[in-house]
Amino acid sequence: MIIPFTAALTDAEITAAASLITDILSSGDLVLGQHTEAFEGRAAAMAGVREAVAVNSGSTALEIIFSWLDVAGRTVLVPTNTNYATAAAALRAGARVELYDSGLYPDLDDIAARLSGSVAAVVVVHVGGYLSPRLPELVAMCERARVALVEDAAHAHGAHLHRIPAGGFGVAAAWSFFATKVVTTGGEGGAITTSDNALATFARQYRNQGKTSDGVHILAGNSWRLTEIGAALGTIGLDQLTDDTCTRRAIIDRYRRNLAGTGLTFPDIGENNQVSGHKCIALLADDIDRDALRAAAAEHGVTLARGVYEQPLHRQPVFANLNAGDRFAQADDFAARHICLPLWRSMDAGTVEKVITAVAAATTAAR
Ligand SMILES: Cc1ncc(COP(=O)(O)O)c(C=O)c1O
Repeated sequence: MIIPFTAALTDAEITAAASLITDILSSGDLVLGQHTEAFEGRAAAMAGVREAVAVNSGSTALEIIFSWLDVAGRTVLVPTNTNYATAAAALRAGARVELYDSGLYPDLDDIAARLSGSVAAVVVVHVGGYLSPRLPELVAMCERARVALVEDAAHAHGAHLHRIPAGGFGVAAAWSFFATKVVTTGGEGGAITTSDNALATFARQYRNQGKTSDGVHILAGNSWRLTEIGAALGTIGLDQLTDDTCTRRAIIDRYRRNLAGTGLTFPDIGENNQVSGHKCIALLADDIDRDALRAAAAEHGVTLARGVYEQPLHRQPVFANLNAGDRFAQADDFAARHICLPLWRSMDAGTVEKVITAVAAATTAAR
């Protein structure tokens, strides 16, 4: 059997979800009902904040936050090592996007150098579900500059640093519940978390065609609601999130212990901190060729997926007009040298062992 890089729901989970879906369809209550409310309660608790607003994607969550921050005509600093959506959402909200350098973590010196009076917001992305150990410094830097810090927490469900959960650092966080994330709302979905009640009210209206609860259109909003089915599936996922992140973390720790000395360096997470386990990231030593490593691992029956982002935003044609002429050394180095090891929460010990054996052999073959 070829070991893939991720895996779907278990049979028991599919049976439980199917029965819930049947109940929702029979009730006829398909949007903005009790399941959305329950999901939002769980999402706010995950981020350790007062409010959560469910929406139909991480991209729309970001765009609503940027619209609330009134970024139109102003600059939003976005890491170049991120998903298309982080920059695209800011552009759609009318911002000028300026990229800053970032590897796994943001380059704080580069952010500091780019902070000016025209900057409305800085976005930090918790790539792969890893939280930068320097987040507290970034928070302080943004506070001093009176600039909003927005967390793109699309990968970071359940991660925490010094007991502060992802979502607890910025004025708001955007979450994705897309199919591949640690928790999914059935394929597509998102949420905004914040302790700013006014932002939460804006987001509730924006996602529902800009309507107040009395049905009056006061904003140029959109139809960006999450379905009740999506919310119910997401609630199941959030209820088991702590167990899931612990399971994923144990696998990451095992990879790290057993692959030490093979030319793979794993990020230092810290005993009391937690990652989401969206990805298990490792950096390759300079003398290991990544394509050769992948080919050798495949010969041993292990699929090494593409990296988180192998082409940072400054190398994407659609963003060619951003930051013309700037160099992003950390992003380019990270993009060229990282790999993601197979990781899913129901991964059994035997499979993990097979991956370790295959990757250890592949590192030798790829030198
Ligand atoms: C870092 C990051 N931000 C935002 C998004 C957008 O989320 P969605 O696909 O739910 O719109 C993604 C999607 O993968 C992402 O990886």
